[in-house]
This record gives sequence, structure tokens and C-alpha cells, in this order.
Amino acid sequence: MSEFDFNGAHVVVTGGASGVGAALLDVLDELGKPRVTVLDINQPSGPHSAYIQTNLADPASLDAAAAQIGGPIDALFNNAGVADTSQRDIVLAVNLLAPIRLTEALQPKIRDGGAVAITASVAGMNWPQRFAEIQELLSLDGWDAKSAWLDGRDLGVDTYSFTKEVMQVWTMRDATRLRQNGIRINSVCPAPIETPLLADFRETIGEAGIDFGIQHSGGRPVSPREVATVLAFLASPAASFVSGQNLDIDLGFRASLATGMLDSSAVRASSSGKE
Ligand SMILES: NC(=O)c1ccc[n+]([C@@H]2O[C@H](COP(=O)([O-])OP(=O)(O)OC[C@H]3O[C@@H](n4cnc5c(N)ncnc54)[C@H](O)[C@@H]3O)[C@@H](O)[C@H]2O)c1
Repeated sequence: MSEFDFNGAHVVVTGGASGVGAALLDVLDELGKPRVTVLDINQPSGPHSAYIQTNLADPASLDAAAAQIGGPIDALFNNAGVADTSQRDIVLAVNLLAPIRLTEALQPKIRDGGAVAITASVAGMNWPQRFAEIQELLSLDGWDAKSAWLDGRDLGVDTYSFTKEVMQVWTMRDATRLRQNGIRINSVCPAPIETPLLADFRETIGEAGIDFGIQHSGGRPVSPREVATVLAFLASPAASFVSGQNLDIDLGFRASLATGMLDSSAVRASSSGKE
């Protein structure tokens, strides 16, 4: 059996009914047919062993789902997400509060050597601009305290991007705590992906902003499978010494901004519809 193999493993996937999560069910099936429990508001159609209908915007629904999942768990994929076409409270809950709460709820059932993988986004690349506030938020215990901190606050950026900034910082921050339990945590940060959510981003970010991102990350959207294979790798024993990493899946888009090969003012102009 290779280190990339999920044979005999128990895996939990959120958002497995569509897009990246649906592609992940196929990839995992090809990588050894693990036992897969899907948490989603919608019924998945891809290969899975158990489906627990869950509204991740509702902590009671999340807790009830987590309680139904037996251990040991080898890998938890926090993948479900929504765009700013949803209400602010829902975006904050599904994209930010839920992954943290689900990870904390399932952590005692994740085995030593297990892994957590998160679908973050290239939209979260500007986390250093809000690092102090994000640290303050992440230092608060529990859903209610974090909700109260977020309530009505000017986040300094659109809600969706803020949630993905927090996911990147949380991935780095929680690596230390989880390592003490033998658990790794990593995220993927994809450029626009060819999923139903992309139409929502075209509405919220604007055509110019999305097309700019696509143009400078390979000329086409990432496929859901190209994200799912990286997620599977990060959660597999093949990545056994990798933790606290936010792995861009963008054909060098963020790297080109970081090194000045691409002018970041062009991104701002495109997002404000000027390009
Ligand atoms: N599509 C993109 O361009 C893009 C880019 C970067 C990152 N991402 C991230 O990829 C992840 C997967 O998104 P996708 O593009 O596959 O979108 P998608 O809409 O195809 O899939 C999202 C899944 O999440 C589920 N979901 C939504 N709200 C839920 C809720 N309240 N409770 C339970 N499940 C819920 C949906 O039913 C669906 O199965 C998200 O975290 C998203 O932010 C997407």
C-alpha cells in the first residue's frame, strides 16, 4: 500500500454534494475506497458510505452531526463554503465558524497521525493586513464569542475574503496545538474553480476581477479535480511531515504578486471594475 492510499481509512468531508467536494469523493474512491462520511445540506451523489444532512450555518445541526460520527477518523476535509451572494451571517458561519467548531468537535476522534485539510482560497492572501485582528478573533473560545466579535464589525475587506484570510491564519496557528495530538492541518488556496460557486463570485467580485485572476493563473479556471487531488495528498500519509501550510493552487498567481512580477495595483483596478 502506498503513502498516497486511503485504503481502510475513515474520512469526513463537508460540502461533498457539489464542486470540489464531489470531485474529492471520486478521487478518494480511486485512492483505495475509504469509508467516507459526508456532511452537507444537500445529498451527495458521488461515492460515499454515510451522509448526514447538516446545516453548517447552524451550530446545533453541526454538533448533532459530529456526535453521530464514530472514530477513529483518519482525515477531516473542511471544504463546504458559500460566497457573498449569501447573507453575511451565513458566510461567516459556514466558511469560518463551522470549520473551527467541527474540527474541535471531531479532534478527540481523529487518530494520532491523522490530518485536517481545509479548502481556503487565494482570496485570503491578504491576511497579513489584518493579522492582529484575526489573532484576536482566533483567541476567543467558541462560536458565540467569535460571533459576538464579528457582529456588525467592519472587517476591512469583503466578508468572503475575510473568512478565507482567517482560514489561512488558523491553519498556521492551529498546527502547533494539533501537533501535540499527532494531527496535521493544511489548507489549499485555489484560484477561481470551475464549480457552481464561480457564477456567485462573478456576481459579487465582478467579471473583471474574476477574469483578471483567471488570466494570470493559467488562462482557465482550476478544475475541481485539480483541487481535490491536492487536498487528498495533503491529508494522506504522503504528506506526513507537512503541517501549517497554505498551498496555493493558482499556477503562480500569488507568487507573481509577492515578487512584483505582477503589479498588485492591477488587481485593485480590476476588482473595482476599471480593468
Ligand atoms: N469556486 C471557486 O471559484 C472557489 C475558489 C477558491 C475557493 N473555493 C472554495 O472551495 C470550497 C468548495 O466550493 P465549491 O466551489 O466546490 O462550491 P459548490 O457550491 O460547488 O460546493 C459547495 C458545497 O458546500 C455545501 N454547502 C453550502 N452551504 C452549506 C451549509 N450551510 N451546510 C452544509 N453544506 C453547505 C453545498 O451544498 C455544496 O455541496 C469552498 O470552501 C469555496 O469557498 C471556491
